[in-house]
Order: sequence, then C-alpha cells, then structure tokens
Amino acid sequence: MRISVIGCGYLGAVHAAAMADLGHTVVGVDVDEAKVASLSAARAPFFEPGLPEVLASATASGRLRFTTDFSAVEDADVHFVAVGTPQSAEGDAADMRFVDAAFGSLLERVKPGDVIVGKSTVPVGTAARLARLVAERAPEVTLAWNPEFLREGFAVKDTVSPDRLVYGVPGGEAGERAARILDGVYERAVAAGTPVIVTDYATAELVKVAANAFLATKISFINAMAEIAEATGADVTQLADAIGHDARIGRRFLNAGVGFGGGCLPKDIRAFSARARELGRGDAVRFLDEVDQINLRRRARVVELVREQAGGLAGVRVGVLGLAFKPHSDDVRDSPALDIAMRLADEGAIVTATDPQAIENARRRAPKVAYATSPEEAVAGADVVVLITEWPEFVGLDPEVIGRLVTRRSIIDGRNALDPAAWRAAGWEYHGLGR
Ligand code: UGA
Repeated sequence: MRISVIGCGYLGAVHAAAMADLGHTVVGVDVDEAKVASLSAARAPFFEPGLPEVLASATASGRLRFTTDFSAVEDADVHFVAVGTPQSAEGDAADMRFVDAAFGSLLERVKPGDVIVGKSTVPVGTAARLARLVAERAPEVTLAWNPEFLREGFAVKDTVSPDRLVYGVPGGEAGERAARILDGVYERAVAAGTPVIVTDYATAELVKVAANAFLATKISFINAMAEIAEATGADVTQLADAIGHDARIGRRFLNAGVGFGGGCLPKDIRAFSARARELGRGDAVRFLDEVDQINLRRRARVVELVREQAGGLAGVRVGVLGLAFKPHSDDVRDSPALDIAMRLADEGAIVTATDPQAIENARRRAPKVAYATSPEEAVAGADVVVLITEWPEFVGLDPEVIGRLVTRRSIIDGRNALDPAAWRAAGWEYHGLGR
C-alpha cells in the first residue's frame, strides 16, 4: 500500500519505518528540516532500540523516504496523522494546533477514495469534528481514528506486533471500507490473530486515554500504598508481589518509586480531566487529579529524603543516576529524574547527574545541573547518591566499588530497583520508597 505519515516525531518516525518494514511504500512528512535530514540519512533523531536498523533497511529498500514537501502525500492513498498533542501552555488541555494544521494541509492534497487515519492522542470528540471538516472539504475521503499504544523503548516491536488494534470509523459503507483498508495496512498482525476492535470515533479516542489513565492510576495506587507503608514500616514491594499474584490485579505496573513521567501519561491524564470538565463530567475523572498529585508527591519525597540524609541541601553533593523518564529512552519530557535533579539544584545542592542516553536532552533543559558521562564520575565525592532511572548499568553497580568513590555511603533508591541487603552489607545507608 502507499502510505504517508504526517509528523515524524516519536510516533510518526517509528510508524513510518515500521510500515515500510512491513512492505508498504511510505513517505514521512515533517516541517522540521533537521529531523527530515536525519531520518533521510537513516539516523534516528532520538534513542529507540531497534529503530536505526529498521530505518536503514527500509530506506535501503527504497520503500521509505522523508521530506518537508507536503505535496509528497499526493503519491499515497492512506494518510496517517501522527503529530504531537502536547499539554498547552495555558492549562491542562491538549494543544491541538499541530493536528489542525496537519489536516489543513492534508485536505488540500487528498484525492477521492483516500483514507485519513488519525493516530495522535486527542480529546474525545476531535475525530467527529475533523470528520465534518473532511466532509466539507474532501467529501469522498474517509476519516478513521486508530490510536497507538506503543511504549518507548519497545516502539518498533509494539508497532509491528501490537497487542490490539482499534479502528474508529464512521457507520455505513465508507466505514467498512476504511476498516478493510486498515486490515490491509496491518495485514501481518491481523493474520497473526491480533484482536481488532472496530468501533465509533468516540470509543476509539477514549480507548487511548482510558488505557493511559488506567496505567497512571495503577502506578499512583501503588505509590499511595508506599506512602502508607512508609508510615507503618510495611514493605510496598512485598505488598505489590502479594496483591499482584491475584490475576485480577496483576503484578505489572505495580512498581512503586518516583512514579510516571514522559510525554504521554502525565499530559494525557491532565488533558482527559480537562476534556471531561468541558463535557460537564469533571466529577467522573476527578480521581485523576489525585493520581497526578500522588505522582508528583513522590518526587518531593525524594528531595526530602536527600535533605534528611544530608542534614540539609545547601552545598550538599548529590550524585544522580538517571535522567530519562524511564530506562532505554533518551526522553526527558516530564521526567521525574530531571525534575528531582533540578529541585535539588534549586535548593542549593551540588548535583552531578548521569544517564546512558539522556544527557544532551537534559542539558538543554537543566543547565544548573552538572553532567558526568559515567556513574563513577557522577557519584565521586557525593554525600548522597540517588538512583532515579533503573538502567541495567546502574542497577548492576557494585556497592563496594561505588562505596570507595563517595564521601558518605548513603543511597536513595527511587525505583526500588536495588537489593537493599547487598547495599546494606557493603555499609550503605539504604532508603527505598515505601519499604
Ligand atoms: C505509555 C503507555 O504505556 C503506552 O501504552 C502508550 O502508548 C504511551 O504511553 C503513549 O501514550 O504514547 P511510555 O510513556 O512509553 O508508554 O512509558 P511507560 O512504559 O508506560 O512508563 C511510563 C512511566 O511510568 C515511566 O516513567 C515509568 O518509569 C513509570 N512506571 C511504570 C512506574 O513508575 N511504575 C511502573 O510499575 C511502571
């Protein structure tokens, strides 16, 4: 099939490469010249395991190209809109400017029979609004909404082999045709038995935000339990193991720690709340504000623990392990690690942080923090060490070897990822969260 992908950020670049890998002919379009130049040279503009290989093979096959020239979409019949919907500067709602601009440009160039497929995470009601625009400006074009559930770090795998496919389509013949075309796009996954849910626009949009809201709630639930564990001497990790054995609950996404960050969960729950308020149903998801608060409180808790450990923050040397919002990513958007490093620095601590991939992105946002290229360098002379992103190279550090580099053997494990017994045996004062 001939596919265009509008927006080559995280979602779009991965989607374009994965679609070409599946055998489709794909053009990725973005306004950012640097991004297009990088992708055209088969260089991923961000760290994502597996993406460079797929970009290289798809580009070499001639099935994948990237351009800033919007007219390239004229060579495609299926158009994925994968632009960002960040939190708006004025409040919690999603900023829809990029989506609206993409549709504006696209509708000038589509031809009868084309299918436009929305992938961006949008407030429920957006697809219906855009469908009216499509009906006005390009009446023989159909709009479908096909949310994306990929996780950073596993983005290529999640795109090629998703655990479900959701198509929001209009009723009638046009909708059936759009669903058939999407089955063709995802032929391999469909043939492998991936569940396909064909539904209306509103349900498709809601599936996406509901899934992220559920995941965020699960994480904040266990972090709320961590707060109670801290007040009672209970161990939240054992608690999670024990309740996780109940198949109805499940152990995944029950890791207590500094909580969730990234470009999706935090802004998606805020946008969902904002949209529910617009719909007059703010009460229904008011708990998401609490989910957000619990999450943010964990960051403050780490800052307090450092203060307690060092007897103050001014002039205290803190070695921070991790900057990305999670391992296997260079993404520092709403990263708990970067937030904590900046708060410590703002309160006068001398912070040296490191991360295997995220230093450059972090440096741009947090110039007050000093950066080191190895964990050894980051903790050298530290009064307190804080582990915030559980990269395997940090989790595997030898407490005895690291202990020789610091001034005081004091560690705060912001992800409950270390073995407390091993660190205590090496003479460290160990603090997890909720244990
Ligand atoms: C999330 C969803 O998991 C994807 O399904 C979704 O497609 C994506 O958002 C999106 O909307 O684009 P992602 O942001 O890549 O994916 O990251 P997650 O793996 O969900 O982790 C989010 C945050 O939660 C990380 O900061 C992670 O450290 C934290 N987390 C995760 C916990 O604190 N505890 C856990 O048990 C699990």
